[in-house]
Amino acid sequence: MLIKQRLVCSILVIFCWTSILLCSTPLRAQMMGGGHHGMFGLGGQDGFPPATDPASLPEPDSSGAKLLRRYCDQCHGLPGPGLHTAEEWPAVVARMKRNMDQSGMMMRLMHHVRKPNKKETETLVAYLQANGRKTVDAASLPDPDSPGAHAFQRTCSQCHALPDPKQHTAAEWPATVTRMTQNMRSMNVPVPDSATLERIVGYLTQNAK
Ligand code: HEC
Ligand code: HEC
Repeated sequence: MLIKQRLVCSILVIFCWTSILLCSTPLRAQMMGGGHHGMFGLGGQDGFPPATDPASLPEPDSSGAKLLRRYCDQCHGLPGPGLHTAEEWPAVVARMKRNMDQSGMMMRLMHHVRKPNKKETETLVAYLQANGRKTVDAASLPDPDSPGAHAFQRTCSQCHALPDPKQHTAAEWPATVTRMTQNMRSMNVPVPDSATLERIVGYLTQNAK
């Protein structure tokens, strides 16, 4: 009798766990959260891009930025153009259009997935490419043996290829590096101590655009 009760009990426990696991898969979240402003608040997990604040998009009033806000935060947080280089973006957007086709059926039950037409896609890709991350070969860095260059290389190539110091002006770099420390927190990458961060900012502003 006791054995039977235990058996029933464990079957119930297994059943509950399975349902919890099934109910928390990204697909389910994708279907449930459907609409707006990145249901994956944390970002950067399960292959989803970390969310970017719409206000920090480059050229926020351009048609490209508007299309990005219209189409690209339906399933995950708004992706920043700096996530990829100009060479990489066309393939990523093509894959996203396939994602839109594939999840369209299921999501249509709860939400309507908007899909950009051909012309809108071209504008979107051009915007992403123009504002994509520019990378630099470590061998061609200025002052390659300075402590700043070392800290920069070590810290700033963990999530993406090393960004070109010439991508920003000296005035822009401090805020960009601050945003990167937020990316580090949300993506569970250790944030360097403040002395290291200052060294990196110093190196970038000295070698800026
Ligand atoms: C129908 C839902 C859906 C829409 C709409 C969507 N995505 Fe995605 N996105 C996904 C899924 C699912 C993943 C994770 C799997 C993958 O990478 O294909 C993802 C991952 C990403 C990633 C991280 C992976 C990588 O290659 O860097 C980026 C960047 C991205 N999307 C950009 C975009 C852009 C830009 C748009 C607008 C053109 C967009 N997404 C619209 C579903 C969507
Ligand atoms: C934890 C991962 C991570 C680390 C480490 C990281 N980045 Fe990024 N970086 C990102 C993500 C995600 C994006 C795209 C979203 C955005 O722009 O915030 C990005 C985009 C960029 C861009 C293009 C966007 C822009 O504003 O120009 C630059 C430049 C950049 N990173 C510089 C740096 C520098 C400098 C460091 C070192 C201090 C650094 N990154 C370290 C994740 C990271």
